[in-house]
Parts: sequence; structure tokens; C-alpha cells
Amino acid sequence: MNVLGRIAVLGAGNIGGSLAQRLAEMDVAREVVLFDIIEGLPEGKALDIQQSAPILGFSTRVLGTTSLDAIAGAEIVVETAGLARKPGMSRSDLLAKNAAIVQGHAEAVRAKAPEAVCIVVTNPVDVMTYYFRERSGLPAPRVFGESGTLDTARFRWFVAEALGVAPRDVTGFVLGTHGDTMVPILSLTSVSGVPLSRLLPPDRLAAIVERTKQGGAEIVNLLKTGSAYYAPTASQAELVRAVALDEHRLLSASAHLDGAFGERDVYIGAPVVLGRAGIERVVEIDLTPAERTAFAASVAAVRSDLAILAKLPAPTVPR
Ligand code: 2OP
Repeated sequence: MNVLGRIAVLGAGNIGGSLAQRLAEMDVAREVVLFDIIEGLPEGKALDIQQSAPILGFSTRVLGTTSLDAIAGAEIVVETAGLARKPGMSRSDLLAKNAAIVQGHAEAVRAKAPEAVCIVVTNPVDVMTYYFRERSGLPAPRVFGESGTLDTARFRWFVAEALGVAPRDVTGFVLGTHGDTMVPILSLTSVSGVPLSRLLPPDRLAAIVERTKQGGAEIVNLLKTGSAYYAPTASQAELVRAVALDEHRLLSASAHLDGAFGERDVYIGAPVVLGRAGIERVVEIDLTPAERTAFAASVAAVRSDLAILAKLPAPTVPR
């Protein structure tokens, strides 16, 4: 079922390696290219993944490389490179260092894979997605970020655990930024169509919302030397599959808003329809007044990081 020629994963850390494995096992591309600047790391992980092919039965070739030339002609690029949080850090603390990395990769995509659909994962993701789009020059629908799909998965799991129901029967949306001001939308969460408000009392719902907002930090604090990657890469693989197979999935992703939700020129988690061309449309849904206020605060947090990024001195983010 290899519908694509090449998917490129930039960064071979915990996220990049785990994602390359999931993509190989998904078997949607003839080739998954895993890139990193650390000699041996992408080659070693790629070879390790490749050797699971006889057991798992996939036909995807997995190539590790330290050369960005290898991304040439990729139809999908996933940007995972950058530093991860340590305990006590916010995602925004990564801004300057990760911007410098993302800039180089965005320019490589512009030169070598200009037709790609790009999924940005590097934190702070809404800001890095904006920056990647700007530096790559790609059309906005072909650049989006992973945020809501991961936060929504965490939210769905906590609800499923609280109710003792199958996780896949819980659906919902977490919108806004992938950070402390994310907005779990309770009015749109249900268990096989039964509204959540009929199943859980307000105090338990509030506790689940709070735990979801701290979902990434909870894992950073447990791991102490890294951040989450199993659920993040499951969510990234879901996004890649939606694009590769032209599934028209309605998911939450960091999308460029051009008027939807009353916002312009910002990337933020919103409901979108995803297919082979990337974001087919942003789906504007009615929010309650409280949700609207929370969404606006989330947008403000991203704009504040964008303003910091714009003021970084040239050597930190070479222009
Ligand atoms: C997380 O929330 C890595 O930001 C990512 O776990």
C-alpha cells in the first residue's frame, strides 16, 4: 500500500526515531528518510527499524542520513528536530534555540522538497509552525503543526479512564495552543454521542481539564531527562496517514487562521479537515462565551511568543 514515494523525518531523537518506526510499520511510503546532524544516530536507528521488517512485514525502506540532500522530493516532511523540555521549563523556553534549527530545515525544504506537506512538531509548536511556514515560503495549507491531536488524545484517555469506557469511544476537541492555555472543549466532548456533562460531575471534569493541560509536563517530570514520545508519535502518525491516504479527517491541528475564530495571521490549534493537499479547510465551530475567552487568551500567548521571536538578535536566528 505504498502510496507515497518519500516521507522525511527531521530529527532522530526519541520523537523522530519512534515516528520513523510507526511510519515504516504503517507502510504508506516506499521510503522513510530519517535525518539528524549527529553522525551515526539516524543511520543506527534506521537500520534497527529496518531489521524489524521481516518480522512485521512492511516493505518501506528506512534510510538514516546526516545529509539534507536526502529529503529531495519528499511528499511529506515532519519536523521533529530541536531541544525538548527539562523539568521546570515551559515550551516557550525553547524558542530561540529551536527557531535556529527550524530555520535551516525550512530553507532546505524550500530548496529540495517544495511540494511537500509539512507537519511541525518542534516546540513551542504553534510558534515554530508559523516560523517554518514563513522561512519555507510554502503555502499555509501545506504547513501545519501537531498540537490538538496529542492534547485531545490525552484528554480522551483521562475521560476514558475516569468512566471505565473504551478510549476510542471518547471523542472531543482540545483547541488553542499546545501549552498551558490550551482549551479542552467540553461542549464538544462525548462518549459515543452521550455528552460528557451527563456522565461526569463538574469537579471531576475540571480535574481532567487541568491534568490535560499539564499532560506533557507530567511526563517530563516523571522522565526527568526527556519528554513524551509514544503518544506524540501516535498522534503525528495519525496526521501523516490522513495526508498520505487523503482521508479528509476532521482533527485538531495547529493551522494558519485567516479570519476563522476572528483571528488572522497566527498558527493555533483549530478543527481542520486534513487530506492529501494538507489543510483543506478550517472548520469554524460555535464556542460558548467562556470557550471563546479561553481561546482568545491562547491566541494571545502565541502572539506574545511570536513577538519575542521577531525581536531575537540576528546571530541567534540568522536571517
Ligand atoms: C508533549 O506535550 C512533547 O510537547 C510535547 O509531550
